[in-house]
Amino acid sequence: MKAFRGHRLGAVEDFALEEQSIGAPGAGEILLRVEATSLGFVDALVMRGLYQAQPPLPFTPGGEIVGRVEALGEGVTGFILGQRIACWQFGGGLAEQAVVSAAHSVAVPDALEAAAASSLILDFLTAHYGLFDRGHYRADQSLLVAGASGGVGSAAVQLARACGGTVIGLASGDAKMDHVRALGADLVLDYCDPDWRAQLKARYPAGVDRVFDPVGGPLFEACFRSLAKHGRHLVVGFASGDGIPKLPANLPLLKSGELAGVDARYLGESDPARVCAILGIIFRLAERGLISPVIGASFALADAPAAFAALASRSRIGKIVVTP
Ligand SMILES: NC(=O)c1ccc[n+]([C@@H]2O[C@H](COP(=O)([O-])OP(=O)(O)OC[C@H]3O[C@@H](n4cnc5c(N)ncnc54)[C@H](OP(=O)(O)O)[C@@H]3O)[C@@H](O)[C@H]2O)c1
Repeated sequence: MKAFRGHRLGAVEDFALEEQSIGAPGAGEILLRVEATSLGFVDALVMRGLYQAQPPLPFTPGGEIVGRVEALGEGVTGFILGQRIACWQFGGGLAEQAVVSAAHSVAVPDALEAAAASSLILDFLTAHYGLFDRGHYRADQSLLVAGASGGVGSAAVQLARACGGTVIGLASGDAKMDHVRALGADLVLDYCDPDWRAQLKARYPAGVDRVFDPVGGPLFEACFRSLAKHGRHLVVGFASGDGIPKLPANLPLLKSGELAGVDARYLGESDPARVCAILGIIFRLAERGLISPVIGASFALADAPAAFAALASRSRIGKIVVTP
């Protein structure tokens, strides 16, 4: 079978489509015929060796995998041959076949196509875990989302709106702002406008109850300062690339506020059952039309380098999906 893999981490040119033999699945594993794998910001970091954890080599990128079951390893129950399942793991998805962990796999409803299901996996898992497990977000609360047009940001907008909450999205430029409005945000502000906090304060004078922040950088402190009393700022990522922001310790004190980290990878390692439960909720929400997959572009496996080029574009809206 063919896999897009690299023998060292680095640029996309260090990776190529190679013939690879894939063995039978081991205990607790499932062999999949891959139907779709989605790529996000994290995949670009992992490929370049810039992620917090390094994968073993040779490495095949792509952790948001949907495929049909071809073989079950010893002890695997609850899945049948031919069934469409979704799995989130470190990599292995940019290939015709992949071996995945049964403990991290969940059935995909028939109504969801493979590409759609794959595009929901990490962004909606992170947003759901962040908002509800780490943020204790409720429908009567207001939520400020930084990077609201991006993968995890737009998932947070959709999940908060699906539960009836009030959402304020921050995005840059007309196209991204229009996209966040179309996702249902109650208010969208352009954070390139130095006046955005004054505009927010005019609508929400007491501040917002929750911040969902995958961007960091200079926006980090401005978002924390926008919290209401007893507010909670969810630290999700640092897409701005401006280094790790620092927060003056008097601000949490003055707000009686909290900073909470959101680490989906840690959740995957420590509580795979919770990952599967959340993915099940997400697929049911999508089935009922309460959330929608946002796919920016699709590529064939042979065009994986072009998929990574599309991923790197700041103007991109939506997930990049690769289908063998
Ligand atoms: N904690 C977790 O478990 C977890 C899970 C998944 C992802 N993440 C992290 O969350 C962050 C976002 O991931 P994603 O997949 O949602 O990424 P994405 O789809 O590329 O979205 C990134 C967003 O950040 C904004 N942004 C601001 N400055 C940027 C810059 N210099 N370059 C690119 N984008 C910039 C962009 O919006 P504007 O152009 O409007 O500014 C964009 O909407 C990343 O840091 C990723 O590592 C964390």
